[in-house]
Amino acid sequence: MALASEGAGSCLAIRKLHPAIGAEVSNVDFSKPLSPDVAAEIHAAWIAHHVLVFPGQAITDEQHVAVTRHFGEPEIFHMDIIKSKFLKEIFRVSNTDEDGNLVPPSNPIQQQLSSAKKWHTDSSYRPIPAMGSILHGVEVSRTGGLTCFTNMHAVYEALPPEWRAKVDGRKALHDFDKLSRISGAPKQTAEERARVPAIWQPMVRSHPVSGRKSLYISPIYNDDIEGMEEAEATAFIQELAEFAGQDRFVYRHQWETDDVLMWDNRCTMHIVTPHDPMERRVMHRTTIVGEGPVAAA
Ligand code: OGA
Ligand code: MN
Repeated sequence: MALASEGAGSCLAIRKLHPAIGAEVSNVDFSKPLSPDVAAEIHAAWIAHHVLVFPGQAITDEQHVAVTRHFGEPEIFHMDIIKSKFLKEIFRVSNTDEDGNLVPPSNPIQQQLSSAKKWHTDSSYRPIPAMGSILHGVEVSRTGGLTCFTNMHAVYEALPPEWRAKVDGRKALHDFDKLSRISGAPKQTAEERARVPAIWQPMVRSHPVSGRKSLYISPIYNDDIEGMEEAEATAFIQELAEFAGQDRFVYRHQWETDDVLMWDNRCTMHIVTPHDPMERRVMHRTTIVGEGPVAAA
């Protein structure tokens, strides 16, 4: 059979991974140029399933960035740390440095990455948050380190009516600076801080492609809700995160080497399960800039 990347029409093989979210896509090779038809098929599957898993993609960082460009502009991280010094589009979600040495968990960069052990959606603190992210498992963990994804359309639709009334038409504050307050993450320099001031985002958004509504929160960055006392807002965000984390909404991904995962940040949240910090885990991520500011629903 021809590979999908050879542009032979509809030949992606798609298998659902969980009733609510996620599908595995095979018969495509990211180390070869993608045809526009295949990219369009992948995009349609992505909108339908929210998270796609592409097994066996032994790609270079350059090929990773090239795949990303089929779906939008790669986001460049606003801090120097975590950004690869070789390719600015690559965000290193790794416990090694770029010389390959394991970095201790006490290292501030590792403290910042450890914030991913709580539910979040990427770069929600930007005026134009990321549309999606593409994560390549270069060296995967065997001691945990599963990445879990929740479907925020389904979460919104299942909210108890009194919670729905509390989120409809409301805004939540998203602040990157919160990371350094909740973890030992390095403080941003004044210049970095000025690039990402705190921003109010609607708590219910409408998906720019499907039009479907979803709950939009990112608990590692949220520290205020319009019209609520701080303690009430903190408790409510926590309750919403617990609700969203129920098994009925969540796909848990056990990584194999060279899996590539592509998720839609507009309608999902993700979290990584704990793993032995002394086991190497090297993951490279690109991020796709969104199409515009968040559309309230
Ligand atoms: C990310 C992230 C989780 C993981 O790359 O945005 O949250 O599994 N990663 O490392
Ligand atoms: Mn993340």
